[in-house]
Amino acid sequence: MTTVVDLPLLPLGRGVDLGSERGVECPGDLPSPSDPSLVARALAAKEALGSRVFVLGHHYQRDEVIQFADVTGDSFKLAREAAARPDAEYIVFCGVHFMAESADILTADSQKVVLPDLAAGCSMADMARLRQVEDTWAALEAAGLADEVVPVTYMNSSADIKAFCGKHGGAVCTSSNAETALEWAFAQGSKVLFLPDQHLGRNTAVLKMGMSLEDCVVWDPHRPGGGLTPEELAGARMILWKGHCSVHGRFSAETIPQLRADVPGVQVIVHPECTHEVVLAADLVGSTEFIIQTIEAAPAGSAWAVGTELNLVKRLASEHPDKRIVFLDKTVCYCSTMNRIDLPHFVWAMESLVDGVVVNQIEVDAETEKWAKVALDRMLALPGKTHKD
Ligand code: 13P
Ligand code: SF4
Repeated sequence: MTTVVDLPLLPLGRGVDLGSERGVECPGDLPSPSDPSLVARALAAKEALGSRVFVLGHHYQRDEVIQFADVTGDSFKLAREAAARPDAEYIVFCGVHFMAESADILTADSQKVVLPDLAAGCSMADMARLRQVEDTWAALEAAGLADEVVPVTYMNSSADIKAFCGKHGGAVCTSSNAETALEWAFAQGSKVLFLPDQHLGRNTAVLKMGMSLEDCVVWDPHRPGGGLTPEELAGARMILWKGHCSVHGRFSAETIPQLRADVPGVQVIVHPECTHEVVLAADLVGSTEFIIQTIEAAPAGSAWAVGTELNLVKRLASEHPDKRIVFLDKTVCYCSTMNRIDLPHFVWAMESLVDGVVVNQIEVDAETEKWAKVALDRMLALPGKTHKD
């Protein structure tokens, strides 16, 4: 007998939930993944489109796709690159949904942003929904605290959350500039509501801004009053949303002592989406762009254990055969949504553009775009202190 289980999660690529970071099935015929001419087809489409198309590739993308990117980068660099390409008719974003939304917000209305697979969402971004954030704000107002709270959202959030922050005097940040963004926010108010990644918020507040763990509380949107007492809320400086990255959240501090014993002289470098315990046990912490630049600048013969997405770590290892580069944790896997963008989807999106058909266009509505742009522009205007790029 088959038991029908009512799955709370939307299976990737199936069904339609327009409020979700997860997407819908791709219409049209995808080329077969076993088609041996896929690389040649992608090259031909790119050549045919010429300067009409600009391809952005996040560092976590598969090798088979990243080879076609005009620019690779972390989410901060890619947002800036998208904003700096006013002449490209099409921006093909090899990354995830919230990145493509940001590109749409930062580009002109005439430019079209394409996400090759609409199922390339982000589970972290899905952990903060506008309704939940509005309810949280109402609770802060009822507690008489909203006037002193500045909302700051990580880039990894949907456009409507960014718009909420723009409307309420807040900003966007990325893992490259979270410290600068928090410095800015604490110049505007005495508390920050940090969305949706509790780990980036905590790691930045405690390790970069000199706050204590007691200054940070976690707001659980699934519990009344966020699961906090009025005293805890009133005493907090950082109100961290209860969200996390399902990839980086899996790294464990327990693996690090053994790794240090196994690989003499190893330096552990991790992304700030990892838990506080992992970051404390590591030697260095920073965005993907920081991780790449640090390893590139390291001397031959140095050894590195890297705590970030596997596509990037594998690429770093193959690009630096003179250095020993290992993945920090055997139990962590690829980001499944980043991996949705594969060569068949890329070829399909590009060939459709050649045929004059724009598939999987990401379009943020005008009102959301207006306020999300306010929050993104505040981030882009932040002074220095980002990664060197
Ligand atoms: P950055 O690109 O800011 O390093 O963030 C990593 C990430 O998880 C993107 O989804
Ligand atoms: Fe989202 Fe984490 Fe994947 Fe980035 S790595 S897209 S934060 S799930």
